[in-house]
Amino acid sequence: MSETSANTMWGGRFSAGPDAIMEAINASIDFDRRLAPQDIRGSRAHAAMLAACGIISHEDAAAIDAGLSQVLAEITRGEFVFSTALEDIHMNVEARLREIIGTPAGRLHTARSRNDQVAVDFRLWVREQCDAAIAGLDALMRAFVTQAEAGADWVMPGFTHLQTAQPVTWGHHMLAYVEMFARDRGRFEDARRRMNECPLGAAALAGTSFPIDRDMTAAALGFDRPAANSLDAVSDRDFALEFLAASAICATHLSRFAEELVIWSSAQFRFVRMSDRFSTGSSIMPQKRNPDAAELLRAKMGRILGATVALFTVMKGLPLTYSKDMQEDKEQAFDAADTLMLGLAAMEGMVRDLTANRAALEAAAAAGFSTATDLADWLVRELGLPFREAHHVTGALVKLAEDKGCDLPDLTLSEMQKIHGQITDAVYSVLGVQNSVASRTSYGGTAPANVRARAAHWREVLG
Ligand code: ARG
Repeated sequence: MSETSANTMWGGRFSAGPDAIMEAINASIDFDRRLAPQDIRGSRAHAAMLAACGIISHEDAAAIDAGLSQVLAEITRGEFVFSTALEDIHMNVEARLREIIGTPAGRLHTARSRNDQVAVDFRLWVREQCDAAIAGLDALMRAFVTQAEAGADWVMPGFTHLQTAQPVTWGHHMLAYVEMFARDRGRFEDARRRMNECPLGAAALAGTSFPIDRDMTAAALGFDRPAANSLDAVSDRDFALEFLAASAICATHLSRFAEELVIWSSAQFRFVRMSDRFSTGSSIMPQKRNPDAAELLRAKMGRILGATVALFTVMKGLPLTYSKDMQEDKEQAFDAADTLMLGLAAMEGMVRDLTANRAALEAAAAAGFSTATDLADWLVRELGLPFREAHHVTGALVKLAEDKGCDLPDLTLSEMQKIHGQITDAVYSVLGVQNSVASRTSYGGTAPANVRARAAHWREVLG
């Protein structure tokens, strides 16, 4: 048994201090100290409101405010001594406030509980993370748009099943990621909008008999309105779940491009060269340039998804309202957010520094009979063949080229005419990859003109 004295915050009916193991499982100060700025911000708003409503004196409120700013300064300077016996950030801050200002510190917790206090702190923190994710996504999208503008008409193979399918443009591929990350941005914006209700004043769970002004604290903390139901206000962690879910989807996108970078930078592909800043060498094989940052980004998605699953699992079985299980929300969200922000920054750097190997992209675009669909379409358009028959004829031409070990444009006209007599030499115009991509002008298609227009749209949106 640890012989620490009974807790000063709720020790009234407890004579002995907690067992050391109890303290270890119960305390959150090692991680929730990160919420200190939000905790102090919430407390200052609460104290100002209590004074404005005549619940505490203006002198006490002023003392509390000055004391809290001193506590924050101590924490910022790294001088604050955190105590595990004081369990969490809320009690650590309040205990230090009492040391600094004495009795008035005890009035701060009027009409409040740690339940609404932690809910408001954590909401403020998650809201900031949404803003950080949005800023990180904007920077990343700009990097992709810059790549798209540079290579709007560079041809490369488009893949399905990682098999060469049809030629596409580099710019089109880059802009696919802009669409994906723009949806991520939208998810963070939506989540932020929905979470922007203030739980402060819900007190333990039932509200309070003190004549508080919840609109005032909500406004002071930048919330749109106070949360309407006190039970929901203290037990809701949807905001963290939504943030995590949005992060997991975003991390999936980061991981997919990371995977492409790993493939594209290999000696077999040589589609791109990653900058020295984002590659590492091998200690034994001098020729190696390893895409470590991309690989790590691919792997880190697992942490974010893991955090998401962990918090869903915590929340799914909890009756209303607060249960201590909910203390497990923070480490998951902290780790996921840190991982996401690092991932966004790392990907932005990689994309900005990325050099596409235009010649390799173009050579690969022409290989693998990538214009077979263009050929089939030509047979439909020019010779009036039904598409199914055109598909069949094209298949026979592909087989012929395969047997000869050449590409489609290398077949002679007479060879082609043996398969279908009406083919003319006009067909060669559609067998080139540049013609192929230029012809894909349908809305959302890969034609360079489309890519330029969409890149200009994003440039305007992103500034
Ligand atoms: N450290 C706690 C948490 O993170 C604060 C709320 C504690 N509330 C309570 N009733 N024990 O959830």
